[in-house]
Amino acid sequence: MKKYFIQTFGCQMNVYDSWRIAAMLDARGYKPTNDVADADIIILNTCAVREKATNKVFSALGRVRDAKKPSALFGIVGCVAREVGANAFHRIPELNFVLGPQSYHKIPQILENPDARLLNIDLSGLEKFDELPQMVTSPTVCYIPIQEGCNHCCTYCIVPYTRGQELSRSFDDVMRDTKHAAQTGAVEICFLGQNVNGYKYTAPDGTIYRLSDLIRETAKIPEIQRIRFTSSYPTEMSDDLIGMFAIEPKLLPFLNMPIQSGSPDVLKRMNRPYSLDGYMEIINKLRAARPDIQISSDFIVGFPGETDSDFEQTLDIAKRVGYINSYSFKYSPRPHTAAAIMPNQVPENIKKERLAILDSLLNDIQHEFNDSCVGKTMMCLYEGSDKTGQHLIYRTPYMQQCVVRGTIPESGEKISKIKITGASKASIRGEFVND
Ligand code: SAH
Ligand code: F3S
Repeated sequence: MKKYFIQTFGCQMNVYDSWRIAAMLDARGYKPTNDVADADIIILNTCAVREKATNKVFSALGRVRDAKKPSALFGIVGCVAREVGANAFHRIPELNFVLGPQSYHKIPQILENPDARLLNIDLSGLEKFDELPQMVTSPTVCYIPIQEGCNHCCTYCIVPYTRGQELSRSFDDVMRDTKHAAQTGAVEICFLGQNVNGYKYTAPDGTIYRLSDLIRETAKIPEIQRIRFTSSYPTEMSDDLIGMFAIEPKLLPFLNMPIQSGSPDVLKRMNRPYSLDGYMEIINKLRAARPDIQISSDFIVGFPGETDSDFEQTLDIAKRVGYINSYSFKYSPRPHTAAAIMPNQVPENIKKERLAILDSLLNDIQHEFNDSCVGKTMMCLYEGSDKTGQHLIYRTPYMQQCVVRGTIPESGEKISKIKITGASKASIRGEFVND
């Protein structure tokens, strides 16, 4: 029996793509393995967003090369494949295939013709979703890509190069995948896109579908109890979408809407053309629609030319919005991006210092929010048990991890009512409420 090993780096989009690649190999009779040495085909699905991510991929490639069976097929797919292209074969001559983020469905070609090298980093379309078979079972939280690529061209970001121009999948295709997920085990749907709230599909009859239409339709599926989406671009937060937070209880009161920096000068150089006032106005509209909504953000510190006062403004906006669950990164110069050749690159030690200051503030804000949840009751989604087997892990509607003592409810319900009894920086604790 042939076996496959898949290692996934980076974003949820890659996680989903790996599921579909696995489904394709399952359908061909392959079995999964966690042991590289035992695998007949090894696939690394990669991320290139920061230099560290790319370096991590190359160290993993080196390890796999040393551990694998000589006969095993060995390939790299995803954003690093697209970033380095044919050069990957020079760096790791043992590689059999290098496939970009839109070419995963070409993997069968290498199975049929294992002696040829396969390189495909075209960004021609999203036919991979049609050509890869569906998963037989879906995870409780199922990601569904609705849109890929990005037209925003932030000056630091390699994604428009690696994933290409923005493309939205057809409404019918997305709903078919969503219904399939619901029928095969999903309870929560998370719509994915690099610019997910920019989703726009024009049907042949001229009807235009938006993300709000997908949410409305998905909420009608009885098995689906929670809906969310990521990642949103601030100025694409349209009124119809904001309105969904007011009328659709299945839509979780949590939104990732990255601001990146609190300095208007830095935002301009990042090519993120919104003002702080404009951004705050969107937050206010969201809070008017759903008073309990919580927002998270991505931040970049040490963007070229960022001064102490620019950085102070980032701290200010983080406090003003009170972001929970945020991600912060040191600026990393990437090939194929405009910011990599901008003057006044910020030295590493300053980036490191600023990141530590911002992280500490974000942790304090998160801790404060976690504290404020104590005493409240929330409907939480079961994720699994911890290593000791004594605690269950749940996810709150705000994406906090909630540790619960006890055993899984006999009803088999994935969603339970939980009273929050304690809080720390990283998680909260709770107990089942039996009504
Ligand atoms: N909208 C996309 C964002 C992709 S990149 C999505 O979530 O699908 C994710 C985050 O990585 C960005 O929001 C940004 O904060 C960070 N990032 C992107 N390029 C970066 C770079 N060159 N250096 C540091 N961080 C970066
Ligand atoms: Fe990257 Fe900016 Fe698009 S962060 S994915 S270019 S919105």
